[in-house]
Order: sequence, then structure tokens, then C-alpha cells
Amino acid sequence: MNQQKRGIFIVFEGIDGSGKSTQIKMLTDSLHKKGYPVFSTFEPSDGPIGSLIRKMLSGEVETDQRTIAMLFAADRTDHLLNRKNGIKNKVNQKIIVLCDRYYFSSYAYHAQHIPMDWVIQLNQLNEDILRPDMTVFIDVDPKTCFERIEKARSSLEIYEKIDVMKEVRDHYFTAFKKLKTKEKVVVVDGNTTTQNVAQSIWDHVRQLVENNE
Ligand code: TYD
Repeated sequence: MNQQKRGIFIVFEGIDGSGKSTQIKMLTDSLHKKGYPVFSTFEPSDGPIGSLIRKMLSGEVETDQRTIAMLFAADRTDHLLNRKNGIKNKVNQKIIVLCDRYYFSSYAYHAQHIPMDWVIQLNQLNEDILRPDMTVFIDVDPKTCFERIEKARSSLEIYEKIDVMKEVRDHYFTAFKKLKTKEKVVVVDGNTTTQNVAQSIWDHVRQLVENNE
């Protein structure tokens, strides 16, 4: 097992259909093969608040956008601190934690409905608890993402959905600019083969991991 000096927290971001989960699986395998301890996780979490959020996103439970934004922030705090599988504990145990979405998702998605600065403020506590060592944004053309999602599901409102994806992508870049002095964000071109994307991600991750041995 490769000994790390400290844990590392790496977040993956992107619009829906950008291939985050595939890349996280591939990176988890690569790191395992090289003998690193890895834990991968996701938001909304599979904890109690995350389950409530999923019911809200599917329309099963009715709510409004401000409530959802606040619940995402609370889900994140629980995801960081809960005793069973909390990210903070894992990082303290010198594990490399990979997380599918974190607070930049909140900034990008909720800014469709409420001011981004409000959402950033709402996540201040989470930022104080744990800032990612690196956020990897997999940048894929919204049209490509839409086509991928459409293949997997049956009924979607075509233009509206692409428009939303474009808007969310723009919000991501607004947030990256706003927080560029505080956050380490790398943008990876996702408009290429899965292998090429994995290689670009590995080039960034390798530096972090090797500097931490
Ligand atoms: P995700 O689990 O990545 O999507 P999937 O359905 O493919 O598993 O995320 C679910 C949705 O939640 C996604 O559309 C983005 C949204 N989201 C927010 O609106 N705010 C947040 O803070 C997070 C983490 C996700």
C-alpha cells in the first residue's frame, strides 16, 4: 500500500451526462492498482437528507428552489461529518476521497433560480470544513450531453433541456472565475474518447498524489 502523508479530497464536476461517474470509476481502479487507498462517493448523498432531495428532484415531494438549495448544503455537511462514512474522517485516515459533485454543483445549478452569491454564502460552513485539494471539471458540449442522456431516458423537452445545460455550464465558469483565488479547479476537455479524458485526469491527479508521498 502506498503511504500518503495526508488524505486528498478530489471533486468531479460537470453538467449531467458529462461522464463523471465513468471517470471516477476508472480513476478509482487506476489508484487501487497503484496501491493507493481510495474511497469514492457522491452528492446528493445516500444519507437521509440526500434521499429527501432525490424525492424532490423527481417531483415526488413538492418544494421550492430555496429549500432545495438549503437541503443540498445540509446534505453536504452531513456527508462531510457523519460518523459512518463521512468524508472528513476518510481524509483524516489518509485516504484519497473522490466525490461526484460538491459545492460547485450548488453554485452552478441553483444559480438558475437564486443569486449565486447567496448559494456560496450558504455553503460557507462546508467550505470551512473541507475545501477540495482539486476540483476536476469535465467539460463536454451540452448538445453531446443531451444526446447521451436522451439515449438513456425516454421523455425530455429537447430545447429547454439543452438550454438548461448551457446555462448550468455558464454558471460553472462564472463560479470558477469568482472563486479563482480560493479554489484549485482544472478544466478537462471531455469532448474526446473516454481513454483520452481519463489520461488528462490522471496527469493532474498524479502530480497531487506523488507530491503527497
Ligand atoms: P447526479 O446524481 O449527478 O445525477 P444523476 O441523476 O445522473 O445520478 O445529480 C442529480 C442532480 O442534482 C443533478 O442534476 C445536479 C443536481 N444537483 C444540484 O442541483 N445541486 C447540488 O448541490 C448537487 C450536488 C446536485
